[in-house]
Amino acid sequence: MNHTIMQRYSLRRYLGAGASGSTWEAEDANKKKRVAIKMMSPRLRGPDLWPIATSHEASVLERFKDEGEQIIAFYAFYEEAKDRTAYIVQELAEHGTLADYMSSSPGAPDEEATRFIAAQLCLILGVLKRKNVVHMDLKAGNLAVVSKVSAGPVIKAIDFGLAKIIGDPSETFMDPVGTPGHMAPEVSMSEIMSMPYGPKVDVFSAATVIYERLTGNRLIPERFSEGGLMYSYTSLIEEKLRALRDQKGVSPAAIDFLVHTLDPDPVSRFSAEETLEHPWVRDLVLTIYPKAKAVQDTVKQFKFTCTGTGTGRSQTTGSQSESYKRSTTHLESRPECA
Ligand SMILES: Nc1ncnc2c1ncn2[C@@H]1O[C@H](COP(=O)(O)OP(=O)(O)OP(=O)(O)O)[C@@H](O)[C@H]1O
Ligand SMILES: [Mg+2]
Repeated sequence: MNHTIMQRYSLRRYLGAGASGSTWEAEDANKKKRVAIKMMSPRLRGPDLWPIATSHEASVLERFKDEGEQIIAFYAFYEEAKDRTAYIVQELAEHGTLADYMSSSPGAPDEEATRFIAAQLCLILGVLKRKNVVHMDLKAGNLAVVSKVSAGPVIKAIDFGLAKIIGDPSETFMDPVGTPGHMAPEVSMSEIMSMPYGPKVDVFSAATVIYERLTGNRLIPERFSEGGLMYSYTSLIEEKLRALRDQKGVSPAAIDFLVHTLDPDPVSRFSAEETLEHPWVRDLVLTIYPKAKAVQDTVKQFKFTCTGTGTGRSQTTGSQSESYKRSTTHLESRPECA
């Protein structure tokens, strides 16, 4: 940390690490409060793409300034001139991630506990879509637990390192970005299919988290999404949902929600706004967040158009290999992408 940052922030505790760096709890002397600082070293990312990778995440987070209830709050961004180490100062999530929470309470919880997570995920999906952001890496490890209430953990989305901005001409929607096991089929097969994907990829990833919370098991084995074909996804998901139907204590509404959000076909898969309106979560969404009515309305007004031509990053987290490539995609021919 350079002198300016060190004067203001004192590191207190290591919080966690991922593919792009480590995050620490720190004391902000100016604001007299505890924060989280994500530090990203160029050594981990590759020097060529460093400026894109770090300032990109900070600028995406900044878009959510008014959405503190669903997305972790962004406070500041610093970059060392000398070695380009970057620091994103953000709201501290006191209780780690949903992945930590789930591993500390393994097994399947009751459906009500899952519904609480699902309703919050639907709100996250609504806010992402409203702000024209596709997260690309929704998973339990990228959902921070900011507090705990009697209904369960209160979550916010973190880690926008792979996020894409709809309408950004430098962005492509055809690269396999995300974490195996959570990526939507059209993302993991994007290179084979040569078809642009859209914000519904986040709906699928969110649904993998909901499935995992409901059953205590992963939906897709990690290795599967790297080489799967569409029919393999369809039969795997159908089989898992069939087993879920036979499981005691899972309501038809929960199954219906998962059938529509885990639909391997992005065209028929639920959109963010459809998730918010599903009977399984609708009432809970409004209870958790009375402003949800507004979220639903504004999301509806937003029409996603896959415009954009340019270069893009490609990265897979959660696996050892990090590869970046450049590609050019013309998406204007499809007025509304799935
Ligand atoms: N705001 C926060 N409050 C508390 N802990 C956090 C916060 N942000 C990140 N963490 C911890 O640090 C870990 C890594 O952060 P993050 O997911 O942003 O990094 P990453 O390197 O991009 O991860 P990934 O492996 O998903 O690519 C998280 O899994 C979590 O344990
Ligand atoms: Mg992460």
